[in-house]
Amino acid sequence: MTREITHMKAFALALESMGKPAFSIGRIAPTPGLVDQFFNDSTGAGEHGEIDTRGPWNEGNGWVFTESPAIQAEPGASAIVTESSPPAEQAGLTDLLIDELRDILHAEKQLTKALPKMAEAARFDQLRELFEQHLVETENQVERINECFELLGKTARAKPCKGMMGLVEEGQEVMTEGEEKEDAAADLALIGAAQRVEHYEISAYTTAKNLAQQLRHSAVVALLSKSLAEEENSDQLLNQVARSLMSVAKMPAAIEQVE
Ligand SMILES: [Fe+2]
Ligand SMILES: [Fe+2]
Repeated sequence: MTREITHMKAFALALESMGKPAFSIGRIAPTPGLVDQFFNDSTGAGEHGEIDTRGPWNEGNGWVFTESPAIQAEPGASAIVTESSPPAEQAGLTDLLIDELRDILHAEKQLTKALPKMAEAARFDQLRELFEQHLVETENQVERINECFELLGKTARAKPCKGMMGLVEEGQEVMTEGEEKEDAAADLALIGAAQRVEHYEISAYTTAKNLAQQLRHSAVVALLSKSLAEEENSDQLLNQVARSLMSVAKMPAAIEQVE
């Protein structure tokens, strides 16, 4: 209980710092079938057994009680609900995963070229440093994709990612238009372009990770999860810089109002 209180305190304060309600847990709502399960992991009656106590913490209120899932695999024992469906039609899924990885590889390679330009265009140090830091991460992400291909026994070959080409092109436009803008407005527009890129990458990595998960390829899942976490972190950092720039950008308007 003491440990749980520590966790809840830390989570609540972290959520507060992000401007979220104290009990909003993650971006994805808890899956009803999963969170309602209680697994009775005690050894039950017998010489070394424990008393299987039932109460409101595992009984009624929608709880699904599952008897010692690890100990008895008897037929008729209640089935454990898991997140993914049983592996099926593996070949088709592997092809899909390879296809996703080829697309991501091309997307990331385009970004290793676009990010230095974005860093150069950024007017505020905070944003420039963020782009520079994400360039290093992006280079590692290219390496991770290559590792994924190796683990899957395939040649690392990129496939033109038209979505990212469009986003990079839009980013280029934003930078050209930004030349005419004042510093905060130019950087805010640049952040907008960068966040579109991050969200595109987040969806690509999520799809690839889900496919790898279904294929039970834990090493590939681990690599993709790492890159996915970096993209999500980068998106959050861009949010933070945008928030501080918005307060800077507001100032001239406030002065005008006073006048
Ligand atoms: Fe990336
Ligand atoms: Fe990224």
